[in-house]
Amino acid sequence: MNRNIDDMYKLIEFDELGDERGNLVVAEGESELVPFKINRIFYIYGSDSEVVRGQHANKYTKFILINVSGTSKVKLDNGHETRIVELNKPKMGLYIDTMLWKDMYDFSSDSVLLVLASEHYDATEYIRDYNTYLQMVNQDD
Ligand code: TYD
Repeated sequence: MNRNIDDMYKLIEFDELGDERGNLVVAEGESELVPFKINRIFYIYGSDSEVVRGQHANKYTKFILINVSGTSKVKLDNGHETRIVELNKPKMGLYIDTMLWKDMYDFSSDSVLLVLASEHYDATEYIRDYNTYLQMVNQDD
């Protein structure tokens, strides 16, 4: 069973609560913009521009990616189609549903990629082999 890739991710624009002191962005779990309880956060920084990270899909975890500093690109792949999203604003989030293959790349030297995750870390729910992923998404076709 293959879901439409455009139903599996969403670009989010958080409100920017700015005043003369600077900007502030809030991401609250179980809200309209973050449709899951936030059980884990991690952030990725210091990756060279030629590095490709991610390269996995998750059986259960949903994510929201935010480049709180700098820029990066995310390639999304549902086994049939791909989409590329550039994260380039601290108020911009990318929601990624379960079972979507993702590559993060093209990191700027100042990139800090913050990730909100719906689940605690569990290595067994990461699918890190692309052929296994393709078999899983195509098994009901
Ligand atoms: P990895 O999933 O390869 O990072 P990315 O997808 O961002 O490229 O994770 C790198 C290492 O960190 C790997 O050994 C697993 C470990 N890790 C945890 O222990 N907990 C976590 O929440 C994450 C995201 C990774």
